[in-house]
Amino acid sequence: MDSSDQNRLSVTLVDVASGKEAEFTELAEQLRQLLVRRRYGVSELIRDEAHPLRFYSVRRWNDAAAAAACHADPEVQLVTAALYRIARVTHVVNGARPADPLHLLLEDQRARVEADRRSGFDRRVEARGRPDGERRAGTDRRLGPRRLQNRAGEVDLVAAARRAREHADAAFSKFKVGAALETLTGDVVAGCNIENATLGLTICAERVAMFKALSDGHRGFLRIAIVADTEAPTPPCGACRQILWEFGGNLQVDLANLKGLISTHQLKDLLPLPFDARLL
Ligand code: THU
Repeated sequence: MDSSDQNRLSVTLVDVASGKEAEFTELAEQLRQLLVRRRYGVSELIRDEAHPLRFYSVRRWNDAAAAAACHADPEVQLVTAALYRIARVTHVVNGARPADPLHLLLEDQRARVEADRRSGFDRRVEARGRPDGERRAGTDRRLGPRRLQNRAGEVDLVAAARRAREHADAAFSKFKVGAALETLTGDVVAGCNIENATLGLTICAERVAMFKALSDGHRGFLRIAIVADTEAPTPPCGACRQILWEFGGNLQVDLANLKGLISTHQLKDLLPLPFDARLL
């Protein structure tokens, strides 16, 4: 294989949540067919024999343009989003983009990907002592923060942030903020701002949410919602943007007030040319 061929190979490591294998196989097959049908390339799924829930997805792109078109394809994005809900996806080889330093800086990937097998879905408690089928209906066996869904079954992140805001300790500024993070495993972790008499020790809602999530073992994040009682949106401060980037990567940032969602952004647009661990 010459170097131009190598540039067109992408490899991702996929850790599937237990009990979600059938769903995963179906989604992987949908993606495989889309790649062929739209002439983006070919893909192959290799199971790691040492880890029954671990797969390597190898994609060979027809060319760099095909890879870019595939990433921009709404149907591909839909299937990928579904995949992200049931699996942790780590990019091992990204051959779709030229590896020039500027691209490295502007990459959408998380700045820091730490494989922690205990995070997310690995934290499920075993259904010990209760035969299958006898589980109480409607209960979530997942440890930690409970799920929050709207009527369409989607995670209502703004509602979670609004609820967290109620706990804000904003005695000095009277400016209450709530934030809620959606993790890769579908959990919601929320936080509020907590002020301090020294003022400087105040911590924003976004960082409280992120640190809570990290200390609960979460390492993959999709979105954050931020809610304040203002007409105009309240964007995260510089310090929070840095922390969100380092631990959450290019998150979707939903800004809302008490009436609802105002605007949606990508973190890479709020923090262009970021500093992170890749530069150390
Ligand atoms: N604050 C946040 O919690 N998040 C933001 O995005 C902006 C500011 C808090 C910090 C402080 O308690 C109060 O709002 C006023 O700055």
